[in-house]
Amino acid sequence: MKFSGREVILGIGGGISAYKSADLLRRLQDVGLDVSVVPTKASLNFVGTATWEALSGHPVPTSLWNNVHDVAHIKLSKKASAILIAPTTADLLAKLANGLADDLLTNIVLATTAPLILIPAMHPEMWSHKATQENVERLRNRGVLVIEPDEGRMTGEDIGVGRYPTVERIIKETTTFLEITSPLLGKQILVTAGGTREPIDPVRYIGNRSTGKQGFAIAKVARSQGAEVTLIAANCDLPTPLGVRRINVESASQMQEVLNIEFTKTDALFMTAAVADAKVEKIANEKIKKSDLETIKLSPNPDLLVDLKSFKKGQVVIAFAAETSGDIVVEGRRKCVAKGADLIYVNDVSNGAIFGSDQTSGWVIDSDGNSEKFDLNNKDTLAFELLKRAQVKLG
Ligand code: CTP
Repeated sequence: MKFSGREVILGIGGGISAYKSADLLRRLQDVGLDVSVVPTKASLNFVGTATWEALSGHPVPTSLWNNVHDVAHIKLSKKASAILIAPTTADLLAKLANGLADDLLTNIVLATTAPLILIPAMHPEMWSHKATQENVERLRNRGVLVIEPDEGRMTGEDIGVGRYPTVERIIKETTTFLEITSPLLGKQILVTAGGTREPIDPVRYIGNRSTGKQGFAIAKVARSQGAEVTLIAANCDLPTPLGVRRINVESASQMQEVLNIEFTKTDALFMTAAVADAKVEKIANEKIKKSDLETIKLSPNPDLLVDLKSFKKGQVVIAFAAETSGDIVVEGRRKCVAKGADLIYVNDVSNGAIFGSDQTSGWVIDSDGNSEKFDLNNKDTLAFELLKRAQVKLG
């Protein structure tokens, strides 16, 4: 199933139609989603936590002030692939449009990068009120899916637009939206970033100029497209993108150890890390005196990508190379094949270009040797382009 195992949050607003969300929860589970429920305090007047716990199979947090050490809103917002709120009351629409966060659910919404789907249900007068309509427009302009309510009989005597939509329509519109906004939903993406450091003695190491910016951009964009992302970071002084699992390593051998475990679980590997080609044969326990520096002997590090070839079972592999001389495209073609990669991104880093910068330019080359030039691009834009190409190969 396309959505198998993906976690979503179902927020419940304080409206009489809250009971209909019990059925919605079941149908979301039918398409493979793992649903956690976060009701607002007002909604508990209509449906209690026991119903949500029994149906979802998860504990149901109701307040920011329970288990504060757990920082529930950040934990939940990180693991969610999407947030649905049904019913969304007029009050919730107003709060979300204004970025207010005064309870657990609104805090989760403000802290997440996951797609947001709102299912308003209220009396027709409230739905058609200018204030509500303006709030809906603001939310839609921000990329939020606001599903149109149905027309029909309300609680009490009135008839009009404002009814909770049929669960079938909610499922259809939600799954279509998630397929567009989260093309990598259900995919495991592995990214290496930064530059490895090979220790010489307790004070010195062999290192390189890679900062990890391109790898972090790929991790961030992949996560925003719904992927489960693991980032193996070598000596990067950058904040972890929200929702990304980060494993810090220092040397090439540590990176290889983690890669060997993670690669088998992955759909695509983006090997942006600059791996040191050499290590010191014997790491000194004491600082080497400068008079003895010429005693340092180097030995080659394994080529991590080449060694992964024997583990390859359909994973898409994207290599990266930084060159300073020669025919960059020819060298890119050679490396792509030698390393068993499906694609390689090669860039010209002569005269200090690219490293540490937010811009990049280079060529994307595939294993058949086809090359495509990328002129000065933001590293996020390159991440989008490479993820798009990886997705085509993943099918
Ligand atoms: N790479 C690797 N293991 C190494 C060196 C590089 O897996 N020991 C990976 C890098 O992460 C990158 C790709 O191979 O994705 C190309 O890196 P590059 O340093 O250009 O390759 P080298 O084979 O080291 O080439 P060169 O001789 O130009 O240094």
